[in-house]
Amino acid sequence: MIEGGIPKGRCIVLVGGPGSGKTILAMQFLVNGITKYGQNGIFVSLEENKKHVYQAMERFSWNLIDLEKNGKFTFLDASPIRRSPGDVKIGKYVVGRREFSMLGLINTLEQLAETAKAERIVVDPLATLMFQCPDQYDRRNSYLDLIESLSATGATCITTMESSSSESESNLEEEYISQGVISMQSRQIGKALARVLRIKKMRVTAADVQPRPYKIDSSGITVFAEETVF
Ligand SMILES: Nc1ncnc2c1ncn2[C@@H]1O[C@H](COP(=O)(O)OP(=O)(O)OP(=O)(O)O)[C@@H](O)[C@H]1O
Ligand SMILES: [Mg+2]
Repeated sequence: MIEGGIPKGRCIVLVGGPGSGKTILAMQFLVNGITKYGQNGIFVSLEENKKHVYQAMERFSWNLIDLEKNGKFTFLDASPIRRSPGDVKIGKYVVGRREFSMLGLINTLEQLAETAKAERIVVDPLATLMFQCPDQYDRRNSYLDLIESLSATGATCITTMESSSSESESNLEEEYISQGVISMQSRQIGKALARVLRIKKMRVTAADVQPRPYKIDSSGITVFAEETVF
């Protein structure tokens, strides 16, 4: 659908409703990077702690613990950021709560990307960060800062963003700023509800913009080529 993959070094956003499979797809992108392309990956979790994410991923045959032991996969548990009133220590890194307009996270990520030699990075989900910026101008700038620093690492990046379950007419601010947007939604087809994935935008490459059905099973996310009519 995107001529083989996300353009190298670009940062895209995965937008979808609750339970649409954003975390799974983002993790699959990292695991494939390691196992198929020899590219190290970092997963930055802003909402769920490591235990919960690893538990959710146990269903798939991705051995995150082994990948981590071999230094190919790094999990940055940034979830304490939501709760702590002061600075937050994440492993050996400290993220400042006060200037938490992304800056703490950005500094941490820049260091980590270098030490982990990461070529793929996921930040999941962004809403946690964005809701800390009630002002739209701040929010836009924060997101731009994040994209800029992710781009500076040279890694190919996916950020995820929550939206309503069904696709609405309005687009999120982040979609305009991002270099690519993939949406994962449920659509009513007759009486049934189907999961569909759509490339809303992908700078640099030609994109197949038809909505394509996808399924989630023990091998992760599979997108089907067949045309669907809505
Ligand atoms: N082994 C599996 N087989 C089929 N479906 C699965 C399997 N494991 C998880 N799912 C489905 O995947 C969905 C959850 O995926 P995921 O956590 O990636 O969604 P998400 O978009 O990140 O959700 P949230 O907005 O809550 O973060 C659920 O709808 C769940 O039913
Ligand atoms: Mg998720």
